[in-house]
Amino acid sequence: MSQKPWQLGIDFGTSNTAAAHTGAVSGSVETLPLTHQGNLMASSVFVESPDNIAVGDVAINQAERNPAAYMASPKRSIGHGMVTVNGYNIASSVPVAAVLQNVMSRATAVHGGHSPSQLVLTHPEAWSPREIQTLLDAAADLGLDTSKVKTVSEPRAAAHYYTRTNTLQPGTKIGVFDFGGGTLDIAVLEANDAGTFDVIAARGDNGLGGKNFDAFIRRWIDDELEARNPDLLAYLRQSAPVNVVHNLDDSIRRAKELLSEAPSATITVAGGGFHETIQITRDEFEDLIDAPLQKAVSLTRATLNDAGVTDSSQLEALYLTGGSSRIPLVHNLLGELGPLATLDDPKTVVAQGALSAVAPVLRGMAAGAAPQYGQPGQPPQYGQP
Ligand SMILES: Nc1ncnc2c1ncn2[C@@H]1O[C@H](COP(=O)(O)OP(=O)(O)OP(=O)(O)O)[C@@H](O)[C@H]1O
Ligand SMILES: [Mg+2]
Repeated sequence: MSQKPWQLGIDFGTSNTAAAHTGAVSGSVETLPLTHQGNLMASSVFVESPDNIAVGDVAINQAERNPAAYMASPKRSIGHGMVTVNGYNIASSVPVAAVLQNVMSRATAVHGGHSPSQLVLTHPEAWSPREIQTLLDAAADLGLDTSKVKTVSEPRAAAHYYTRTNTLQPGTKIGVFDFGGGTLDIAVLEANDAGTFDVIAARGDNGLGGKNFDAFIRRWIDDELEARNPDLLAYLRQSAPVNVVHNLDDSIRRAKELLSEAPSATITVAGGGFHETIQITRDEFEDLIDAPLQKAVSLTRATLNDAGVTDSSQLEALYLTGGSSRIPLVHNLLGELGPLATLDDPKTVVAQGALSAVAPVLRGMAAGAAPQYGQPGQPPQYGQP
């Protein structure tokens, strides 16, 4: 039976991996479910041995058994060349390949066991050629012909997703504010005559994301327990097993995400015979994250300045992507910099946009020459504005 060619896009994130494919029936770009619960898979790995690597929730579950074999965010060590985990010295592409392989297996199962005709992988705008090569090395481990593998930067992919519903004229500028689990990436892109984008400015902070906010809440919880239940605090600090701490971290993250919708949320701290429920309000959370968000705003302002955007009317949109961009205070603070845009699930738009970036018919731009990859107008700057 002849098989319709299909394409796969993977956004390998610091916290989560998301994927999109051209649907087996519809042929249009769709998000690919990666767990039985939803579209995202944790990017974590558990290295039992170099040939036996568990990923996602299975890896998180195994972590308690042997923390030395666990890597929560293999994306963070992609530039290291080699990593030591569970006593093994392995190439930093190996854990990445395990994550990509898992996604690829799920995707090929949906397509009758056939491999994709094209695999598109996304990466931060600021990645060096060496980091991008490590991503390609990981893809090579999947056995796909290298000519079938393309890379596209995350803000380019996001900008292409935006053009699925908004037609952009050449010369139009769009800002992408991608606020994920571990990083903040801001870019300004300009639509060009070729039907794609030039990145004209990019900045970011590799240490600012949703995980920082989880840590702030954890410190706030410790302060609350100091007053309410110091014995529980001592237990947490001294003898609590990994699963108790993991459950607390999970409760904190879920409460934080809920605070984007609700004025307050409850965090449960339980273990060792103790049980406390602590309520946190959105106001309290906003106090905790105000300083890093001010930093995010000033980085955004600096990126817009780099791009010559001095007035918000010069920007088609400041497009918010990444899970942490759902926080209402982010919207309030960025609103003064330009017209904000949000589309669909901000955690999967990069994977979907990756496919739009390589298929002109799927995007709302004047379809011209073939898309360009990795040709930013100016090298990205990372750090302080
Ligand atoms: N509704 C929400 N409100 C606040 N934060 C949220 C919400 N939904 C998800 N998050 C946070 O977003 C982060 C994950 O976002 P995302 O999946 O975009 O990150 P990532 O792509 O893995 O990371 P990165 O882009 O840094 O590589 C987590 O910290 C998560 O708790
Ligand atoms: Mg991301």
